[in-house]
Amino acid sequence: MNPALTQFGNRMSQLTGVRAIMKDIKQTLQANKGQQFINLSPGNPVILPEVEQLWRKYTEELLSGSDYGSVVCRYGDSQGYESLIDAVADDFNRRYGLSLTHQNILITPGSQSIYFYAANAFGGYAKNGQLKQIVLPLSPDYTGYGGVTLIPEALISYKPQLDIDASAHRFKYRPDFSQLEINETTGCVLFSRPCNPTGNVMTEDEVLKIANLAAPYDVPVLIDSAYGPPFPALNFTEMSPVFGQNIVHCMSLSKAGLPGERIGVAIGDEKIIQVLESFQTNMCIHSSRYGQAIATKAIASGALAELSTKVIRPYYQQKFVIVESILDESMPQDLPWFLHRGEGAIFAWLWLENLPITDWELYQVLKKVGVIVVPGSSFFPGLREEWAHKNQCIRISLTATDAEIAEGMRRLAKVVAEIYQKSAVAI
Ligand SMILES: Cc1ncc(COP(=O)(O)O)c(C=O)c1O
Repeated sequence: MNPALTQFGNRMSQLTGVRAIMKDIKQTLQANKGQQFINLSPGNPVILPEVEQLWRKYTEELLSGSDYGSVVCRYGDSQGYESLIDAVADDFNRRYGLSLTHQNILITPGSQSIYFYAANAFGGYAKNGQLKQIVLPLSPDYTGYGGVTLIPEALISYKPQLDIDASAHRFKYRPDFSQLEINETTGCVLFSRPCNPTGNVMTEDEVLKIANLAAPYDVPVLIDSAYGPPFPALNFTEMSPVFGQNIVHCMSLSKAGLPGERIGVAIGDEKIIQVLESFQTNMCIHSSRYGQAIATKAIASGALAELSTKVIRPYYQQKFVIVESILDESMPQDLPWFLHRGEGAIFAWLWLENLPITDWELYQVLKKVGVIVVPGSSFFPGLREEWAHKNQCIRISLTATDAEIAEGMRRLAKVVAEIYQKSAVAI
């Protein structure tokens, strides 16, 4: 059977960005069953015992409670399980001094779906035929944004400025406001903070500047806080969520230990939330109510926010310290390697300036020494212009054990040194 696909069918049946590489990684692991790989590719969070126990406890409460039937055996509101909306509103109003009502909150099946709704509700061809762009103000960013629009030409991202500390071998991306265009052709703006893959946290000033550029055009700015506070609080630097009239604060419970239940939360202006809710009703009615019910208990009790700062954040922060210290120890001082400042998320991002081979080739060479990373070029969705930097980076996951990360970094340093050396000899 070979059914004919529409343009949308064609687009949506492609694997985009990192998903295509994940397939290659799976095949590599399957084809080399006897070989021990140090796998530094996963984006899947580690199952931390305290976090698993929290979800187990609230599941038990749900199972023995009187509302089990009404949660699991009935459809609910598209906007989300009422008690969860209450819990989120109370928590945010108390924590951040807001005055959110039910109309400001939407619960979705994972946060990825928020971006799909927004990208297609606000980006793409308008009634008058004008192309409304989905603007990613700082590239690289989350690879999943590459797949959320049905209209690929609507997605546009901007090269960043690089803040380089050469002697420390560190760098940080910053939005390049001299290039960034947000105007009447913009449908929505989207970025992750903290950022997957780089761990960058845009400053509050940068965020406000972007939101202010978008405000005169009534353009929604979606801030993907999948790693942000209050949960999972995977920020290693001080940061607070930024709210505003045209800002949609988007959260995920995935990195707080619940990726299997698919819970995302969008908080924003009532009109924007209504549009996203209708999109959701048409697409899938609502998110899993079982997941929403246990999330309610974890948020309302304060336990999730507490575990986030006491358990989840230190776990990954300490892994980043290992990456940093082993690279500092084993990478040659005279090579132009730069680790992105580790400000959050569950990844480290390494830039190898003037790398003599591509990131994809480096990925293949590393596989040969038993180390799997993710080539960085998958993380520039929407960036059409040529830029050598796109092929000079890799993403290193912080989900492996301490020993694996340390050994992986040592092997990486050796391979990288050899690659630069060979090319120097060849010159
Ligand atoms: C930055 C970012 N946004 C969104 C998502 C999607 O998360 P969810 O499981 O909530 O759909 C991920 C998943 O890795 C992510 O890294």
